[in-house]
Formats: sequence, C-alpha cells, structure tokens
Amino acid sequence: MKPETFEMLRQTIKNHSGIALDKEKEYLIRSRFDSLYNRNNHATLDDFVKWTRENNQNWEQFVSEQLATHETYFFRDPDMHDDLRIRILPEILAKGQPRIWSIGCSSGQEPVSISFTINQLAPERTFSRAPILATDFSTRIIEKAKAGIYSQYEVQRGLPVRFLLSGFDQMQTDWIVKPNFRSMIDYRVDNLFSSQIADSNFDLILCRNVLIYFTLEDRRAIINALYEKLSPGGYLILGSAETLFGISDKFQKVHDVKSIINKRVG
Ligand SMILES: C[S@@+](CC[C@H](N)C(=O)[O-])C[C@H]1O[C@@H](n2cnc3c(N)ncnc32)[C@H](O)[C@@H]1O
Repeated sequence: MKPETFEMLRQTIKNHSGIALDKEKEYLIRSRFDSLYNRNNHATLDDFVKWTRENNQNWEQFVSEQLATHETYFFRDPDMHDDLRIRILPEILAKGQPRIWSIGCSSGQEPVSISFTINQLAPERTFSRAPILATDFSTRIIEKAKAGIYSQYEVQRGLPVRFLLSGFDQMQTDWIVKPNFRSMIDYRVDNLFSSQIADSNFDLILCRNVLIYFTLEDRRAIINALYEKLSPGGYLILGSAETLFGISDKFQKVHDVKSIINKRVG
C-alpha cells in the first residue's frame, strides 16, 4: 500500500470515528482491506481503495467499520459485574425508572448481561421504557445485536449456565435471547464521535474498551460530554485498562468495590 493511501485511510478513520491508528497499524489496515480486495478485480490494493472511495456513498463509515474491533463477551470483567449486582444496580433500581447507556456495545453481550442482572435483582419489575440504551457506530454489529442470536461458541464465553438456561431459547445450533430480556434493551446506531443521542440524566454509563483507540484530546472531550449526560451522582464505568487519570477530575472513585467505578461529582 502506498504511504499516501495509508495516510488517507488513517485520517478518514480518525475524523469519522475517533479511532486513531499509528504507523505500526498499517498491517491491520492492509490485512482488513486485503481480504476484501481479493474478491474484486483491481490491479493493486491502492486501486481497490480508490474504487471503493468513488463507489461507496457512505465511504467514511465503510472504512471505519472495516477497522473496528468488536471483541466482547458475556459478563466481561466479572468483578465489575459483581459490583453492578451488589452495589450499583440495587441503588439505581430503588430510585425509579433506570437509565443505563452501554456505549460501543458491539454485538450486545454487555447490555444482555446487564439485563440478566436486572432481572435477577427485580424479577417482577416491569419498565415503562427499555432501561438500557445500547449504541455502536457499526450498523452491521447493531443488526447482529438486535437479532439477539449467539453461536454456541459465543454463549460459552463468560455466560454462567444458569443464564443460558433462563435467558435463551435454543435455535438449532444457536441461541436466541428471550424476548423479555431483548425488550429491556433499545439498540441504536450512534457514533460517539458525533453522537445524536438526545437523552440525558443517565444513572449509569458504560463506555468500555472503546476509548483506548482515541487520542488523549478526543478522550477528554468525550468524557466531558459523558459527564453532562449523567444525572448528578451518576456512574461512569470504563474498561479495566482505561483510566480518567489526567483526563477529568469531575469524578470520584467509588470505595468498597472491586472494579473502578467513577461517580459524577456534582
Ligand atoms: C472492543 S469493542 C468493546 C465492546 C464492549 N464495550 C466490551 O467492553 O466488551 C469496541 C466497540 O466500540 C465500537 N466503537 C468504536 N468507535 C466507536 C465510536 N466512535 N462510536 C461508537 N462506537 C464505537 C466498535 O464498533 C466496537 O464494537
């Protein structure tokens, strides 16, 4: 791939989705495009990129989607899910209609896990609207999440057997989330970098393993925007390798929990 092609792709992805790839990630761009390129008849990879740019109306989105990493699994980070079950969700449920936002939800394992925990804590509870908003910028991955269908391999990753039995119906070799859990989640396509979500006053926002690909400056801007989206005293949870250190001092760490949970101050 010519250096100018790589640079143009890198800039497009950064401007569209915030995902900042450095020079070392050229192999990643090359390998993702190589697998598409082989199926089309273009003399070089650069020709193929040029052709997709001229022929795809939603090119920025298309390019960014090729590079996104959707790795996720049920109850990812069990300590955090224990903290949600023992400490955070009981408090939120006691207040009234819960408002939870799972950002960069990928194929839905995070919001589905939370719906199971809510049901475990309040089995009789009904909600006037879906308590969990789950968003991702990838149209493809949101379609998968909405379908609620998971392979045997996916349900074997992190999901306790009791939730497999109580939360899913078997569909030949796959598993589909039961309707009462699916109705607890409102899936929408939304790019965090240019978010159109008008809702606010969230009790809990999870933005896990999304910002690791963003520059410090973009992370700071997004954390400030998420602060505004939280209700006073609302909670923000990032991925276990992500930190607010040097980014925002508007949050306090919650004590007596096993994972890092940030509480909005003020
Ligand atoms: C590594 S997955 C993390 C999934 C889940 N949060 C977890 O921790 O298991 C990152 C997700 O963030 C999404 N993502 C990346 N940039 C985004 C953006 N600008 N807006 C919304 N979603 C984004 C990707 O499409 C991907 O599905």
